[in-house]
Amino acid sequence: MANESVEMNNRQGLTAWKNIRVAVTGGTSGLGLALVRMLLDQGARVGFIARKRDRVERLTCERTDARGITGDVSQKDDTYSIAIQLLGELGGLDVLINNASSLGPVPPAPLADTNCEDFERARQPMFWVRFD
Ligand SMILES: NC(=O)c1ccc[n+]([C@@H]2O[C@H](COP(=O)([O-])OP(=O)(O)OC[C@H]3O[C@@H](n4cnc5c(N)ncnc54)[C@H](OP(=O)(O)O)[C@@H]3O)[C@@H](O)[C@H]2O)c1
Repeated sequence: MANESVEMNNRQGLTAWKNIRVAVTGGTSGLGLALVRMLLDQGARVGFIARKRDRVERLTCERTDARGITGDVSQKDDTYSIAIQLLGELGGLDVLINNASSLGPVPPAPLADTNCEDFERARQPMFWVRFD
């Protein structure tokens, strides 16, 4: 019974993302990269964003089903171009995963050792844009 339930969840998981349009900020490394690969494997239509062009190009060569966009989501001027490219590539957006950040090396510093400027820097890569 438990095995059947796990199998059913797995089957549902495999189809739940089919054709869902997802953007992942910071998709070339770490958690973002793992998300891009997993979502593509599950049938999602994925656009990802990162600043280093060579890494964006490397991933789009590896996963030709992904749409890679080079840009800095913390820079207001870049966000318009990123949004237009995302909409052009995916035809709209269903899910935005705000993964990119600049928290610094892992493990993060203890809260007591983190100052306001560090928090502000970590918050900047949040990608806020209207998709309508
Ligand atoms: N790893 C952990 O243990 C841990 C713990 C707590 C929270 N987190 C959070 O989880 C998220 C992912 O962490 P991670 O360790 O997987 O990070 P990571 O390996 O350092 O990857 C960061 C990704 O974000 C991109 N990126 C960074 N700043 C960007 C910007 N301004 N615009 C566009 N892309 C940007 C990087 O590519 P480019 O450099 O080419 O832009 C890269 O693809 C982060 O938000 C992090 O704060 C992680």
